Amino acid sequence: RIYAEPFRPQFHFSPEKKWMNDPNGLVFYKGIYHLFYQYYPEDIVWGPMHWGHATSTDLIHWKHHKIALFPDKLGYIFSGSVVIDVNNSSGLGTLKNPAMVAIFTYHNMDSEKAGKINTQSQALAYSLDEGETWSKYQGNPIIANLGLKDFRDPNVFWNTETNTWNLLLVAGDYAQVYTSENLINWKLESEFGKGIGAHGGVWECPNLFKIKVENSNEEKWVLLISVNPGAPNGGSGTQYFVGDFDGKNFKTNQKDTKWLDNGADNYAGITYNDAPENKRIFIGWMSNWLYARNTPTKNWRSAMTLPREILLSKINNNYILKNAPVSQLKLQFEHHFSKDLIVLKPKQKTTLNYDNLNQSQIQFRADAKNLKLVFSNDVNDTLVLNYDGKQKTFSIDRRHSGIVNFEPSFGKSIHTTATPNIISETIDYQIILDWSSIEIFLNGGVYSFTEQIFPEKPYTKLTIQSDENQEIKNISIYKIKGIW
Ligand code: FRU
Repeated sequence: RIYAEPFRPQFHFSPEKKWMNDPNGLVFYKGIYHLFYQYYPEDIVWGPMHWGHATSTDLIHWKHHKIALFPDKLGYIFSGSVVIDVNNSSGLGTLKNPAMVAIFTYHNMDSEKAGKINTQSQALAYSLDEGETWSKYQGNPIIANLGLKDFRDPNVFWNTETNTWNLLLVAGDYAQVYTSENLINWKLESEFGKGIGAHGGVWECPNLFKIKVENSNEEKWVLLISVNPGAPNGGSGTQYFVGDFDGKNFKTNQKDTKWLDNGADNYAGITYNDAPENKRIFIGWMSNWLYARNTPTKNWRSAMTLPREILLSKINNNYILKNAPVSQLKLQFEHHFSKDLIVLKPKQKTTLNYDNLNQSQIQFRADAKNLKLVFSNDVNDTLVLNYDGKQKTFSIDRRHSGIVNFEPSFGKSIHTTATPNIISETIDYQIILDWSSIEIFLNGGVYSFTEQIFPEKPYTKLTIQSDENQEIKNISIYKIKGIW
């Protein structure tokens, strides 16, 4: 059977073989979700980057395609985005058969080795057959580098308010905004990010989009920015800014740093261009540069997060970005267990047994009081989740969750997050485990936590306990069917 190696995700996207990092060029076209990704087909560590390619009609099942973009004499193919040039503004396609246009970063290793600084530039490639075969634009690069070391990850979209193309890229630890009429000639309009947000490392993978505020007619612009290092749990993480954008300048009143996900393993995520029903669908790379190259998998390395829908909410008069798995994931569920009510006295434990919790969803509603969940197996691997209602924190302890010693930072500390945006009396928990990951969503994604785990055997026991009187309502466990 394929996809049966130890730790191989059963319902998350992973490459058939070899190394993968960032999702690239997420675009929906003619009923198909395209997923391109940073790919090195020769090894399970990072190397000369290509763009791998996969497609899906439901965001759950994926079909692998041949490699879309190969490195060439201008460099490795780093991250970037894809748009459909429906008006044929570039002249690269026709109105009848518009070009699928990829704008990405070239990273020139030869010039890096020669000691040059400006090794990264932006370039264009296009496909006239829905992403199967690609031609590189003859006039590459389309945005030259005027002397910056880190200058990459173009995010391109059609701005329906200004009727022009926008491009954001990252330059060191801030972002630049460009405009274009034809996807080829770009004009620098503004810069964003100095003195705001997290700057523990370089900024990477920007993504700017407009979104409605839930239950209102208000619209805001959201900017995702990955930063590495400098995330709350160390290493890589994705922050966001909520503000306004006039096609040239992005402005925000935001003072605090906000994180899209508070787990250790959700990085470089971006959203789909042109997703149906105006939805904002997000996919992130489920790893962290601290140890991405060392995880204990063979044949392949890394997976993507589940595709998630992003919503913007207002909580305590503050804009909060929520993210939770797309609802069609439910189609993969097989019911295993449910119970209307579990009443716990202080320190009392309830244990649920199931032969493979590492391919399941567990959901329930609990009082917004202490709750401790311990996943374990018969070789004493334990993964501990703890909500503390008094301190208002949520923590994940993967220090003894399985194989952790492949890199010191992986199992070093408990990851604790302050959760001030839990303002309800009860909390909805949605917990999804695959063979090497856990994704936790509180209150529909007001908080999300994504972490890799490498248990030596599947977890078979879930122990639930509390320091306080606690009620667990409508608990269900579903098996999640494999997608491969
Ligand atoms: C983010 C990143 C990007 C870059 C790519 C290279 O993980 O560092 O900034 O384009 O990976 O593979």
